[in-house]
Amino acid sequence: MRKHPIALTGASLLMGISAFAVYAQSVEPTTPPPPPEFAAQSEPNFVGISDIFEFRALDSYSEPAWITENFVNEGKLPPVEERLPVEPMVYKTANMPDGIGEYGDVMRHVIGGRPEGWNYIGGQSQGWGGIDIGMYECLTRTGPLFMVRADELEPLPNLAKSWEWSEDGHELTMHLIEGAKWSDGDPFDSEDIMFYWEDNVLDPNVSPLNGATPQSFGEGTTLEAIDEYTIKWTFQEAFPTQYLYQMAYGTFCPGPSHILKPEHPKYSDNTYEEYKNAFPPEYLNFPVMGAWVPVEYRPNDIIVLRRNPYYWKVDEEGNQLPYLDEMHYRLSTWADRDVQAVAGSGDFSNLEQAESYVEALRRSADDDAPARLQFGARTIGYALQMNMSGNGWGDPDARAQAVRELNRNLDFRKAITMAIDRQWLGDALVRGPFTAIYPGGLYAGTAYYDAESTAYYPYNFEEAQALLDGLGLVDTDGNGVRNFPEGTAGGQDVEITLLANTDYATDTNLAEGVIAMMEPLGLRVIANFQSGNARDDMQDSGQFDWSVMRQPAEYISVVQNTVGLAPVGLRNHQFHRAGSDGTLDLLPFEEELVDIVNAFVATDDNAERAELMKEYQRIFTENVYSVGLTQYPGALIINKRFANIPAGAPIFMFNWAEDNIIRERVYVPAEDQPGYELHPQTLPDVPGGNGPVS
Ligand code: GLA
Repeated sequence: MRKHPIALTGASLLMGISAFAVYAQSVEPTTPPPPPEFAAQSEPNFVGISDIFEFRALDSYSEPAWITENFVNEGKLPPVEERLPVEPMVYKTANMPDGIGEYGDVMRHVIGGRPEGWNYIGGQSQGWGGIDIGMYECLTRTGPLFMVRADELEPLPNLAKSWEWSEDGHELTMHLIEGAKWSDGDPFDSEDIMFYWEDNVLDPNVSPLNGATPQSFGEGTTLEAIDEYTIKWTFQEAFPTQYLYQMAYGTFCPGPSHILKPEHPKYSDNTYEEYKNAFPPEYLNFPVMGAWVPVEYRPNDIIVLRRNPYYWKVDEEGNQLPYLDEMHYRLSTWADRDVQAVAGSGDFSNLEQAESYVEALRRSADDDAPARLQFGARTIGYALQMNMSGNGWGDPDARAQAVRELNRNLDFRKAITMAIDRQWLGDALVRGPFTAIYPGGLYAGTAYYDAESTAYYPYNFEEAQALLDGLGLVDTDGNGVRNFPEGTAGGQDVEITLLANTDYATDTNLAEGVIAMMEPLGLRVIANFQSGNARDDMQDSGQFDWSVMRQPAEYISVVQNTVGLAPVGLRNHQFHRAGSDGTLDLLPFEEELVDIVNAFVATDDNAERAELMKEYQRIFTENVYSVGLTQYPGALIINKRFANIPAGAPIFMFNWAEDNIIRERVYVPAEDQPGYELHPQTLPDVPGGNGPVS
């Protein structure tokens, strides 16, 4: 038999309860070591919101000449001024890094995800990498906030062009852009908003893609349509400005009710599954409010999107946006996205898989390298999440249920966190000053992070073993794996499944690192590695014991999707949702986290918020709510031919870089356009309408 440290466990168990108490006392957390110096390579030019754009009517508008000639003059499309809203969004020239743009060209994205279909609000993924961000517009917008001055920090108006609060702060009236149209010419109005809210967010049978739930907007919140272009929110709290962040990507981006509604079970004979899948990837010209419309799909090859002729944003000279006529999404791998962006056969990448940093840096350092590569702050982080439901979320069998009980035990979570050698994990991804120790919770270096409030249990294998011994997890059959105590899961070996995403090498590398570190501890962790869509479905339906995943935006900005920081609702949290009886079995410290998050949302006093987040971080990390693994910076790689890329655009902050760089105003100077368009001079087809011109 393999010699194994676990052989000691029996002996330490014999030392009994008092020995365990001694151990427990000696397991004192410390503060995490300061992350290695790593300066972001460029800083944003901070501005106020009204410096970026405003909504107003201009004297005249224009569009690419080929649209006027081939479509408008041919009677296939109304003139541009009739396609725009009464007051379009007007981007200000002074805030455009390279000024007014020129039409044409393509941004060639490469992605590792695959489209399930176009019904984003019904829960389908489009394959990520910014396809959905370019197709769906939301009430407010957060990506560009990385360049907004702190004293003006508030989500940007978008589909909601303005809003006002009632005197008592319980009502928020929002004014929608007026006279705007979906890409097929159908009017956009409050009916689209109400369909999204009533029949998708409030309908418990529908799970919009990025997890919008009623709690995303506050317990008891109501929404009503006042008229075609006015909606009114009523909140239980006064002035919960926080919810403006949830009205951005990805929780309030309405879909085209004129084609979705007839498929919804409430208005048809469809099942919910049929509603979700009503618009498969093969369905082209799906109506959008975003700048580009899908016009071609070839499985495992490419998705092509063309400019939306009804897009409702313009520049100060009245040129209808976007400047870029086409978007490509090569259906490949995420690692290939890095390789192609660096080589110049792709145009864009969020360099986020640390394994490829050294090579990407080396190749980009060349003066004639085709792409710019710029590192930002450490906003990529990974954690090991444990399924915290003890009451049946995901329908666990006896073994999985026994694991859930362990997950809910603080000594168990402490043991796991102390058995993780984070320095080793980080170095195994990439050597150098990139990775930092991440104990869990909020990221070091972000606005609400406080090192003093962060409990870090350093690597301590012996203590980890002692804690597991103390839980009665002993290797009774001498096979090197601890057993559940007699009477629990038949006293079988402690086997734990670990869910991770095979679309990213980093995810599986870190998961394998965790598995390797659990082995000497006597825990058999079994890889459950799934492709992205399947992984997401398993996590969302609670079918996991443990899961290693990249952390969402709330751990960075806090103000974005704040409710994701705790299980404030039945199904809003990543690793603790309601069980089969429809209730949430929160542990006392989770209740505290919920209270803190609710208090944070209910106040806009900055000092109070900072204090609340210190408390959140303390409780989170002391209780090892999730086991942080590593955090590191990402780099934005963009081909040098693109103009209007804002300085200091991070790959991930309030949103991903695909939103941050404001793609609708990015352009390529005419003389640099290489002719990559696959469908030049065509527009998305509309029912009975345009018909692509060949
Ligand atoms: C994926 C990618 C990210 C980013 C997002 C956008 O998650 O890994 O880099 O492109 O999609 O949604």
